[in-house]
Amino acid sequence: MIIAIDGPAASGKGTLAKRLAEHFALPHLDTGLLYRAVGRVALDRGLELDDADATAEIAELLDVAELDEARLRGREMGEAASIVAAHPKVRKALLDLQRRFAHQRGGAVLDGRDIGTVIAPGAEVKIFVTAAPEIRARRRHLELEKRGDAPPYEEVLADIRKRDARDAGRTDAPLKPAPDAHVLDTTALDVESAFAAALLLTNRHKD
Ligand code: DC
Repeated sequence: MIIAIDGPAASGKGTLAKRLAEHFALPHLDTGLLYRAVGRVALDRGLELDDADATAEIAELLDVAELDEARLRGREMGEAASIVAAHPKVRKALLDLQRRFAHQRGGAVLDGRDIGTVIAPGAEVKIFVTAAPEIRARRRHLELEKRGDAPPYEEVLADIRKRDARDAGRTDAPLKPAPDAHVLDTTALDVESAFAAALLLTNRHKD
């Protein structure tokens, strides 16, 4: 069973994907980390994030075993990831790796922006997780506060709006729900209720 979880920044899709993967004992791939890693390497090498050829070369040589989550989680990395993710060549370079992960025996849970539309259009379960931008910004702000690294709320909200616009506005694999995706709006749901709703949707498909 392939479970495709898509949605905008800070929608809670990562937490949901992780919980579902644990519940069904499936491997999980946070595909945002791939784009974050490309951005990270490009910045480390002093390359321009706008350079499609240079960043695609990094994507082609990316070693998934070396993804260091802690270094890739930060705010600037999300922004860098969103910039390199708009290059069709970068997306193409990361395609096979993601498809292989999705189609391994027994299935997988993948979360990102284009899992249900491009990476695994045949996924048995597709959930598009969303929430109002103000709510996503509030959640992200709380998370950053806990880490002691919080800019003002307005800045977090502006970041989120900018990232939404870039991810949804690009021509290649833009952020949008697959026609057969279930839209799960978590604006008024906490983590537990969102998980319960996702579980219900998934179990319905399994039967
Ligand atoms: O899910 P995230 O915030 O870690 O993703 C970071 C950026 O990577 C996101 O703004 C757009 C890009 N991305 C993408 O284009 N396609 C994916 N499947 C996952 C992430």
